[in-house]
Amino acid sequence: MKSLVTGVAGFIGSHLAERLLGEGHQVCGIDMFLENYPRRLKESNLSGLTGHSRFKFVEGDLAQMDLTELVQDVSYVFHLAGQPGVRASWGREFDHYTRNNILATQRLLEVCKGQGIRKFVYASSSSVYGDTEDLPMREDSRPRPVSPYGVSKLAGEYLCYLYWKSFAVPTVSLRYFTVYGPRQRPDMFFHIFMRALCRNEEIPLYDDGTQSRDFTFCSDIVEGTLAAALYPGCGEVFNLGGGSRTSLFEAIKMVEDIVGRRARLNKLARQQGDVRHTEAELARAREQLGYSPRMALKEGLAQEWEWIKGIGK
Ligand SMILES: NC(=O)c1ccc[n+]([C@@H]2O[C@H](COP(=O)([O-])OP(=O)(O)OC[C@H]3O[C@@H](n4cnc5c(N)ncnc54)[C@H](O)[C@@H]3O)[C@@H](O)[C@H]2O)c1
Repeated sequence: MKSLVTGVAGFIGSHLAERLLGEGHQVCGIDMFLENYPRRLKESNLSGLTGHSRFKFVEGDLAQMDLTELVQDVSYVFHLAGQPGVRASWGREFDHYTRNNILATQRLLEVCKGQGIRKFVYASSSSVYGDTEDLPMREDSRPRPVSPYGVSKLAGEYLCYLYWKSFAVPTVSLRYFTVYGPRQRPDMFFHIFMRALCRNEEIPLYDDGTQSRDFTFCSDIVEGTLAAALYPGCGEVFNLGGGSRTSLFEAIKMVEDIVGRRARLNKLARQQGDVRHTEAELARAREQLGYSPRMALKEGLAQEWEWIKGIGK
């Protein structure tokens, strides 16, 4: 069974590819080493994959290269490549978001037409919901993103739906809720927080700390993503969350307990595009995908801390 993983050098893509190899898949992974964070971190994300006899790596840009060969004989496409990050998506930077989130997705869907692919799984985001008080967030509620990033991920979802409706490309979109764990991107809160604790530096905290997130451990996201590939339906959207909502203050306290050190917080104003709360309604994913997140937040944070200590200051 051959799978294509786009964004394979990234945080989630590398975990997913390792799991697919463990399941006996042949995996082709593609990544362009986008400069959203250092290439050396992405190369180290690949270290558990390179050299494996069933793994092939292609360095390339989905928005530019000829993609026809990439999808030859592929059963499952896991499209995780993208330009992540809410705060960086304003202004002139939006160019990168249209290119890497919308154009790249459209080009990949286009070459999947008539290829006999079993499933095209798209990594969407909870950011498509926007800033709502109507919690938990349900797949059938109206998406109203409040960041250009959220808009670009929603456009990707709609592209997936229309390639299913118009060309029978068997797509499914997954709305990931704040993923954390080893290899988390350096622009994400726990990574910033833990590295600053390592260095005994002051830590920026945007908003007042009572904002909350449905944090999802990377292995739970990987399980839900695999389940979506095997699910028989198409054209659907599923939330993948961690199963509970935690305020940033509570999460900070957990990390302080794990590390055994208090953080020096520098409180800053809330940033444009940030939402106050996220919480996933998981009924649909539980019923149709058999999704059941397992990792307790404190245990998952302890695993991320071990990794942060390992990558040095
Ligand atoms: N991490 C999260 O909490 C989270 C939450 C919601 C959604 N997502 C989505 O999940 C996916 C993976 O996120 P991540 O946190 O692992 O990000 P990441 O930045 O670690 O990984 C994405 C990878 O995609 C690659 N890439 C980007 N544009 C490309 C292109 N045009 N061609 C080839 N490769 C390209 C990048 O080089 C990068 O290695 C993204 O699509 C993101 O929008 C992530």
